[in-house]
Amino acid sequence: MVEYIHKPVMLKEVCDILGSCNIVLDCTLGLGGHASALLELNKNLRLIGIDRDERALEIAKSRLSKFKDRVSIYHASFDALDEVLRLEGLSSLDGALFDLGVSMLQLKHGEGFSFQRDEFLDMRMDLRQSLNAWKVINTYPERELERIFRDYAQERLYRQLARAITLARAKKPINTTGELLEIIMPILKRPRGKTHPATRVFQAIRIEVNDEIGQLKRALSRAYMHSSLGARMVIISFHSLEDQVVKNFLKENMKALFKKPLTPSAKEIEENPSSRSAKLRAGIKVC
Ligand SMILES: C[S@@+](CC[C@H](N)C(=O)[O-])C[C@H]1O[C@@H](n2cnc3c(N)ncnc32)[C@H](O)[C@@H]1O
Repeated sequence: MVEYIHKPVMLKEVCDILGSCNIVLDCTLGLGGHASALLELNKNLRLIGIDRDERALEIAKSRLSKFKDRVSIYHASFDALDEVLRLEGLSSLDGALFDLGVSMLQLKHGEGFSFQRDEFLDMRMDLRQSLNAWKVINTYPERELERIFRDYAQERLYRQLARAITLARAKKPINTTGELLEIIMPILKRPRGKTHPATRVFQAIRIEVNDEIGQLKRALSRAYMHSSLGARMVIISFHSLEDQVVKNFLKENMKALFKKPLTPSAKEIEENPSSRSAKLRAGIKVC
């Protein structure tokens, strides 16, 4: 599993902003990279980590074992943070971190997250959940598929995509990423710079399966409700839909720490190309 442990995205920036906080909720604990750096930095820190991915939490648990007196770990969605804080007996936070998106572990080890391999259409971050990508693709009404491709993929050809999928599944179920790719590629044939044309379509299905936008909106306001005055919130997002939600949330509720989002340095992008679309926004609770 060591192969999945990369340097966490924008680690220095996260440590600079949250390094002096004493009670931090890491809403996307993942493999515990940001968490272990924060715990190393601040010996008074108590950290509560949440993640939907049980496999990631197994790695995080062993990675954070030397801090076990100061860490609690929960297998939960971050919109359940009220319940997590209640179980912890905590009423207020002075820091929260959201490092959104999928982990390398999910991309390489999860099922159906990457169209680079032909796999069952799953895409669930939490395997306890019943909705998966297969159900979205094979049972959602055509109108709902249009909504996903229009709103989440911002794909101009959303009607054609939804139509091709409904026609294909009427003949036989669409079971794998490879089968789906074969159906959508003739529609998306236009090259789009460096990004594979199917990237946004697969990402949109993943957003729907994991309710990523709904989760984010609920969790941001719940984390804010539990934050004390002066508390800091850091959110790293990887696509414009998420970034828009974060930007609006900070504008309406907090004092933004930076006018424009921070982005990874050229050196970080070179070392870890998957960080290239990261945008970090941060806010402080002032009233
Ligand atoms: C980019 S990784 C985080 C990496 C982590 N910061 C580290 O240093 O290892 C994103 C993590 O967020 C988790 N995640 C995404 N949405 C979630 C949600 N709604 N609730 C809980 N965890 C979520 C994913 O399962 C994944 O492990």
